[in-house]
Amino acid sequence: MMYRWSWLCPWLAVALAAAVFMLFGLTWWSALLAAFLLVCPALLLWGLFITRPKSDEPAVHTRGMIMDWAAPFYDMYCRAVGLGQGFRDQTLHVAAIRAGETILDVGCGTGVLTRRAGEAAGPAGLAIGIDPGQDMIRIAKENAQRFGSRAAFKVATIENLSFESARFDVVLSSLMLHHLPPDLKRQGLREVYRVLKPGGRFVVVDFYRPANPLWWLVAWPFLFMPTTAENFHGTLPDYFREAGFNPVQGKGRRAGILALWCAIKP
Ligand SMILES: C[S@@+](CC[C@H](N)C(=O)[O-])C[C@H]1O[C@@H](n2cnc3c(N)ncnc32)[C@H](O)[C@@H]1O
Repeated sequence: MMYRWSWLCPWLAVALAAAVFMLFGLTWWSALLAAFLLVCPALLLWGLFITRPKSDEPAVHTRGMIMDWAAPFYDMYCRAVGLGQGFRDQTLHVAAIRAGETILDVGCGTGVLTRRAGEAAGPAGLAIGIDPGQDMIRIAKENAQRFGSRAAFKVATIENLSFESARFDVVLSSLMLHHLPPDLKRQGLREVYRVLKPGGRFVVVDFYRPANPLWWLVAWPFLFMPTTAENFHGTLPDYFREAGFNPVQGKGRRAGILALWCAIKP
């Protein structure tokens, strides 16, 4: 079974465009037709010219949800929904990175957090970001060069890390675990455990049981997605313990729908 839900996005775009046309007085069927005629060529151009992978690295296979389709506007989107600098600061506060530490950011996307982690580790440290999205990694590399960051980026998956055991002091996972079906979460967490040094910190921020009924109203469709259901059922910390992490400490919430953890490899 495929766990790539990105195919939903074009249909959501069509539905949204149709809804807008209906606001302007079109009947539902003409609004839908107009939305198709407008959105489909735009998506085709987008797919052909903008999001087409132009990576120098070979593609990797994963059953996780890759987000290359969002790569060109991902940073803008994060800032617009309140996941900008304050959110990154909160994650880094939990990670408490010290000078000279080595950090791995799994599912790094465009690498914003990886770069910040690299700055915290200083010139004696190192931050590496991995993501299966070739466009994400291409943009992460371009941004690292633009901002003079030493952070390194690589096309790879959490379930297949090519690093030697006990290499990293800290592994970061920001908004990534809900992209994996349950078996891949387990496999990925075993890999994270392997590459962490004893005493190393696994810092996670991800969707969690909504803090109030209003958020449940927004979140309930995610209960039907195999990748996200367990996040919203609140079982993510059990996964960390199952992988061997102990203790697993809750480190607060964000926006009533996200939670942060720091899990230690004994
Ligand atoms: C919502 S983005 C989060 C990006 C970034 N960590 C952040 O905080 O903004 C989730 C990322 O997980 C990546 N991903 C999907 N499957 C993955 C896998 N098997 N291993 C590692 N990353 C994966 C996606 O390509 C996407 O870039």
